[in-house]
Amino acid sequence: MAERWTPDSWRSKPIVQVPDYPDPPALAAVEKQLASFPPLVFAGEARQLKKTLARVAAGEAFLLQGGDCAESFAEHGANNIRDFFRVFLQMAVVLTYAAASPVVKVGRIAGQFAKPRSAPTEKRDGMELPSYRGDIINDNDFTPQARQPDPRRQLQAYRQSAATLNLLRAFAQGGYANLGSVHQWMLGFVKDSPQSRRYMELADRISEALGFMRACGLNLENHPELRATELYTSHEALLLGFEESMTRIDSTSGDWYCTSGHMLWIGDRTRQPDHAHIEFCRGVENPIGLKCGPSLKPDELLRLIDTLDPENEPGRLTLICRFGADKVGEMLPPLVRAVKREERNVVWSCDPMHGNTISAASGYKTRPFDRILQEVKTFFTVHAGEGTTAGGVHLEMTGQNVTECTGGARAITDEDLDSRYHTFCDPRLNADQSIEMAFLLAELLKKDRVTRAAPLSAVASL
Ligand code: PEP
Ligand code: CO
Repeated sequence: MAERWTPDSWRSKPIVQVPDYPDPPALAAVEKQLASFPPLVFAGEARQLKKTLARVAAGEAFLLQGGDCAESFAEHGANNIRDFFRVFLQMAVVLTYAAASPVVKVGRIAGQFAKPRSAPTEKRDGMELPSYRGDIINDNDFTPQARQPDPRRQLQAYRQSAATLNLLRAFAQGGYANLGSVHQWMLGFVKDSPQSRRYMELADRISEALGFMRACGLNLENHPELRATELYTSHEALLLGFEESMTRIDSTSGDWYCTSGHMLWIGDRTRQPDHAHIEFCRGVENPIGLKCGPSLKPDELLRLIDTLDPENEPGRLTLICRFGADKVGEMLPPLVRAVKREERNVVWSCDPMHGNTISAASGYKTRPFDRILQEVKTFFTVHAGEGTTAGGVHLEMTGQNVTECTGGARAITDEDLDSRYHTFCDPRLNADQSIEMAFLLAELLKKDRVTRAAPLSAVASL
């Protein structure tokens, strides 16, 4: 029998990656205030996402999850949100066409503020200060005052999340995102890309399909299904006091939901089976993601699945694999086989970012586009070989024209990194690199669809 769960039962478990707040009563006061604030999302929406993810697990839809590594207070502008949204939708249209199935759009947005760190402190020029842990906790400036965790930042993160969500909902439902416009944006990207010819073929076929729909009398700008879209939110459930404050009983079902975002995930550094982060997440009904990195063994994964998804509920659990391009081919198959053997119903998603971070000669942390793509390719190959479903991707990306990851059609070099390196944490794909990734993914997805539709003997001969 599992122990009784309550929103605060995590507090009696061992925990890692917690900030050291200097004034615990001030922290408690903020948490109390947050608990009295309205929810950011509705339980019904989280349930809807779970249903859609169940379709992903069944191979009937594809998951596109992405956004900043860390949102920041400084970059909270309408243009930033709009540009992300535009790029994300263009990616989704390309993938929808290629997979001929729905694409579930889940942003790392409206709550992605807290960051796990590899070291608790940072040293510069002989001075040692607490590490920056994300804007919800402390400030990135390298001064003792800035690095001091301040609970009031949680209130600001809540307000920023609410404002971001409000704009996203308006964009998604208010007609801005109609299919005709998204298609025009995408054509603009293709025209300007150095790989124009490669992407043109797919873009042309989408244009033809839309032309056909128009000819049949469908008005892309007014038809409800083509005029609006759905975008869900997600973030790492790292700062558990904040998450607990946002956890409420849903009056329609009587179940606990964490209302800070639709989907929460558990980071690779905080997935110890008997620790606080697993304890918290096991009790909320939201769809849950679990980052799976190189240190995760198959039996530990099965134990985590038992804890997080004891009912084997489709859509509940997404395994977000992040091994690195050089390790995924060797490390993913044992996990996939164990999960398949135990008949656990999960979504397999690929995070090709976090295992492919390197230090450039210039000193910047970067990620080569080719390695990112290689990890996704190998992820698809492994699933095709095991007869399982490559369900989705999880990307760190932005709608801005930054220079943080090297490579891509407009080949960003080590020397370019300095010109527009803006991330508050890990390097992100920029707007062009993100859409390009979608086109390359589309090629993989199309092949995958053909293979899945083919008889088993054809799969075996791959
Ligand atoms: C992240 O997604 O930003 C992150 C820290 O990932 P991971 O837990 O996989 O390292
Ligand atoms: Co990151």
